[in-house]
Amino acid sequence: MLDMTTSQKLYALVFHLLFFIFLLPLKITSSQRTEAEALVKWKNSLSPPLPPSLNSSWSLTNLANLCIWDAIACDNTNTTVSQINLSGANLTGTLTALDFAFLPHLTQINLNGNHFGGSIPSTIGNLSKLTLLDLGNNLYEGTLPNKLGQLRELQYLSFFLQQSQWHYSLSAYESP
Ligand SMILES: *[C@@H]1O[C@H](CO)[C@@H](O)[C@H](O)[C@H]1NC(C)=O
Ligand SMILES: *[C@@H]1O[C@H](CO)[C@@H](O)[C@H](O)[C@H]1NC(C)=O
Ligand SMILES: *[C@@H]1O[C@H](CO)[C@@H](O)[C@H](O)[C@H]1NC(C)=O
Ligand SMILES: *[C@@H]1O[C@H](CO)[C@@H](O)[C@H](O)[C@H]1NC(C)=O
Ligand SMILES: *[C@@H]1O[C@H](CO)[C@@H](O)[C@H](O)[C@H]1NC(C)=O
Repeated sequence: MLDMTTSQKLYALVFHLLFFIFLLPLKITSSQRTEAEALVKWKNSLSPPLPPSLNSSWSLTNLANLCIWDAIACDNTNTTVSQINLSGANLTGTLTALDFAFLPHLTQINLNGNHFGGSIPSTIGNLSKLTLLDLGNNLYEGTLPNKLGQLRELQYLSFFLQQSQWHYSLSAYESP
């Protein structure tokens, strides 16, 4: 009996070790790769010229440094992209090629002060951890997607549509 329990414990231990040693790092690496691929795909859709340091750091050959790419910040595990801050970067393009489904851990997106046009994608409504969305001082068209109403964590929202500039500080609004 004692031997069986011991071997069962050993199995459990080996299983856990295998899990942590092999599966977990693989999972982190593949999710970092999909995050990086989504960002690079978007970068390649933007109109040149890009700021040189942005163009060179946002590269799959620089995947190991994803958390210190220009304008990118990671969460406190230093593995997952949580912020994009391209405020005032003078960029021209749209958000069409940015696949938010591959960046589910975003908490802050700041694109204020660029020349982004096109529509605001409804997929932003699936970023359930988003607290700050600043799309102000750009050239977006159309309407604000209803799906943004799903963003329960959102505390700050700013955007520009059809000649109207809107700033909502949701936290201030809720607790004056
Ligand atoms: C980005 O850098 C690549 C070389 O790595 C260059 O070919 C390309 O023209 C640059 N793109 C922009 C928009 O500056
Ligand atoms: C986060 O990871 C990068 C490499 O991707 C490293 O240079 C940096 O020092 C790390 N930061 C922290 C706080 O661990
Ligand atoms: C974003 O970048 C701008 C300019 O570099 C900076 O002023 C701002 O504090 C940054 N952070 C956020 C959360 O927007
Ligand atoms: C901003 O980008 C435009 C092209 O899109 C360029 O002509 C202009 O020089 C840039 N300005 C700055 C301050 O980088
Ligand atoms: C949001 O996520 C749900 C479930 O993952 C998915 O079915 C839906 O297509 C997504 N919506 C958008 C606009 O991406």
